[in-house]
Amino acid sequence: MADFDRVIRNGTVVTAADVSRCDIGIRDGRIVALAERIVSDAPSIDAAGRLVMPGGIDSHVHIAQDGDDGTVMADDFLSGTTSAACGGNTTVIPFALQAKGRSLRAAVQDYHAKADGRCLVDYAFHLIVSDPTEGVLGQELPALVKDGYTSFKVFMTYDGLKLNDRELLEVFDVARRERALVMVHAENYDAIRFLTDRLERAGRTEPYYHTASRPVPVEREATHRAISFAEMIDVPIMIVHVSSADAIEQIRWAQGRGLKVFAETCPQYLTLTAEDLKALNMEGEKYVCSPPPRDKASQEACWTGLGNGLFSVFSSDHCPFRYDSPAGKKKHGERTAFRWVPNGIPGVETRLPILFSEGVGKGRLSLQQFVALTSTNHAQMYGLAPRKGSIAVGADADIAIWDPERRVTITQDLLHHGADYTPYEGMEVTGWPETVLVRGETVVEAGRVVGRPGHGRFLKRDLSPFAAPRGIRPTEYEA
Ligand code: URP
Ligand code: ZN
Ligand code: ZN
Repeated sequence: MADFDRVIRNGTVVTAADVSRCDIGIRDGRIVALAERIVSDAPSIDAAGRLVMPGGIDSHVHIAQDGDDGTVMADDFLSGTTSAACGGNTTVIPFALQAKGRSLRAAVQDYHAKADGRCLVDYAFHLIVSDPTEGVLGQELPALVKDGYTSFKVFMTYDGLKLNDRELLEVFDVARRERALVMVHAENYDAIRFLTDRLERAGRTEPYYHTASRPVPVEREATHRAISFAEMIDVPIMIVHVSSADAIEQIRWAQGRGLKVFAETCPQYLTLTAEDLKALNMEGEKYVCSPPPRDKASQEACWTGLGNGLFSVFSSDHCPFRYDSPAGKKKHGERTAFRWVPNGIPGVETRLPILFSEGVGKGRLSLQQFVALTSTNHAQMYGLAPRKGSIAVGADADIAIWDPERRVTITQDLLHHGADYTPYEGMEVTGWPETVLVRGETVVEAGRVVGRPGHGRFLKRDLSPFAAPRGIRPTEYEA
């Protein structure tokens, strides 16, 4: 038997803990040796002058999540995972969305059918619970958690997805019992509807007014409400796509009280502002996402939270729609009111270069923090560690080899997603992933896609160690 299938030589290996110069020996898709110098005749990759990092794990992406209103997502599992791989990722966690009135198990089966045989990188699924019936709460969710779908997202806004307060509490209660991690989209539905109606009545329907319909208090209030419910039930929660200094303040307050409130932010909240939605000729639609991008002060607050550990994970919230398409941003025509523009922007391929360049390159984050925020913490938070998210003996050989000096101007032409634009057009970054291995197989080589659809495997996840309650059980309400 050969000692190794391949060896990565001469690179600077970065993990969430260390930066070291070492060789990596790979066999049967796993890392089996780390040494200053590996002596072997196995084929090798020379990583001299390169950073060798755990492949990115993007734990918040939407792929093939078409709406029941005719909206078509720009990425299927082939284009979405190709784009992910080209952006230095080796695992993605998209969502299996339960439509109202439908079974959650059926939704999971549908998404498996869409993904099966088409992925370049490994994948798992979070569940989106939109209809918490007795059957969903009592049978489907507990069974699905046992089957490896150990996290679910709930929405406090959006028609067709929003749960009322009672329903949120019911889902939190199941999560506590099953040790699942709940992800929360925190915006106040009624406040958004009120503001949207008033803005429309005043004729303010351009894309920019999307931001006015979801101002900071809408996010702050919902964040605080979710935290209060999590405290009542004693269940850990993850507040996703946090955009504002005020929401961050709520999370800091909760963490300061010892509550297990985790948080995620995304590239759009570091790089875009509400002003971008003022782009001419309705091009502001390209930036319509929720919560909306805010202002420079909120960007700074997000950077502070990334640097000081308030945020555990940095994800893309890749939610791609074509701009120039009646199935995408223009679903309701050329000059439709912001209310009808599908929410979401693409970003799975640009997440890592943006954080690397703006974070590590500008001295805001260490290399180890970069790896923690983009890979290791996602694996630990969502039950994929120790197999994923690190460069360690025994871990899957999921590796991204980066040229830290490469200067790239982000343009749509460069990217592999199914969207017809990037919100980061023209942005200059330094540092780009060159070569990406998923379980030891090269899927991107010197920027070229060489991966095979179907190489990416479904990952059944363990329970998150972060999802354990604090043990302060509010037993009074239980029978
Ligand atoms: O606007 C956004 N973020 N769309 C994606 C769906 C979600 O809420 O994550
Ligand atoms: Zn959301
Ligand atoms: Zn999302």
